[in-house]
Amino acid sequence: MRLFLRAALGLAVLAACATAAETQAKETVMVFGGSGQLGSEIVRAVAARGDAVTVFVRPSSDLKRVEGVQVKTLTGDVLNAEDVMAAMKAARPTVVVDALARGKADASFYDVSERNISTAAKAAGVKQIILHSSVGAGSSRKIYPKSRLAAMTPVLDAKTAGEDHVIASGVAYTIIRNGILRDPQPGTADGAKLYEDDTKYGVVTRPQLARLTAECIGNKSCFGKVYHAVDEGLPIPAGMEMR
Ligand SMILES: NC(=O)c1ccc[n+]([C@@H]2O[C@H](COP(=O)([O-])OP(=O)(O)OC[C@H]3O[C@@H](n4cnc5c(N)ncnc54)[C@H](OP(=O)(O)O)[C@@H]3O)[C@@H](O)[C@H]2O)c1
Repeated sequence: MRLFLRAALGLAVLAACATAAETQAKETVMVFGGSGQLGSEIVRAVAARGDAVTVFVRPSSDLKRVEGVQVKTLTGDVLNAEDVMAAMKAARPTVVVDALARGKADASFYDVSERNISTAAKAAGVKQIILHSSVGAGSSRKIYPKSRLAAMTPVLDAKTAGEDHVIASGVAYTIIRNGILRDPQPGTADGAKLYEDDTKYGVVTRPQLARLTAECIGNKSCFGKVYHAVDEGLPIPAGMEMR
């Protein structure tokens, strides 16, 4: 009787493991910008899924935001095509996430970096690229706040070129545009969603973008999509209204 119960328990455990494996396939995810504010939130959210995470960082990058998270690091400059190709071939990721920001580099950063990433991802057989872009890029230029348009045009043009590189790469893509990025307020409910509506505009936080990114990792329903990430419960600051 005891032997029978033990065997039955063993089978139940095996069945539970099989179900978990079916519902959450493990991916190998390479995060560009993983030392940054958005990228580090993404690294944490992706690692929490149980995926293997590699971060592509500069030799000078400070990794304190991902302390305590098990990550592999590969170093280079994303503006150097050879660095990106070598890292991609070493890491062999199944999914690539671009959470880069240009810092003090000129606006062409978004064009060149995403061209390098898309080219290397295609060569390395990556199955999905998730690009964090901005409302105002591509078809969403029409809703960008008029007051900020002139100053932001070079950046939005370069982000449009970055989106175009991903779309043309032949790798399944997921583009997530943010409009107004704000810090989370403690005690505020998370109502962020991804909308396929390129007129959707509003506030979203980095932890929300990280959650939405993790939900799209390896998720075929996100393939070939350009999303706007918005939490409709968060107020749009004065002067930042959609045009
Ligand atoms: N709409 C809005 O209100 C708003 C506001 C802010 C940001 N954003 C957007 O949100 C996204 C994320 O921004 P963030 O503020 O979270 O970024 P961030 O904290 O500034 O992080 C930028 C990341 O990019 C990396 N990076 C920069 N140049 C690199 C290079 N040449 N090679 C390799 N890595 C490089 C940085 O590495 P290091 O650690 O070495 O510096 C860092 O990991 C960006 O697309 C940005 O445009 C939107």
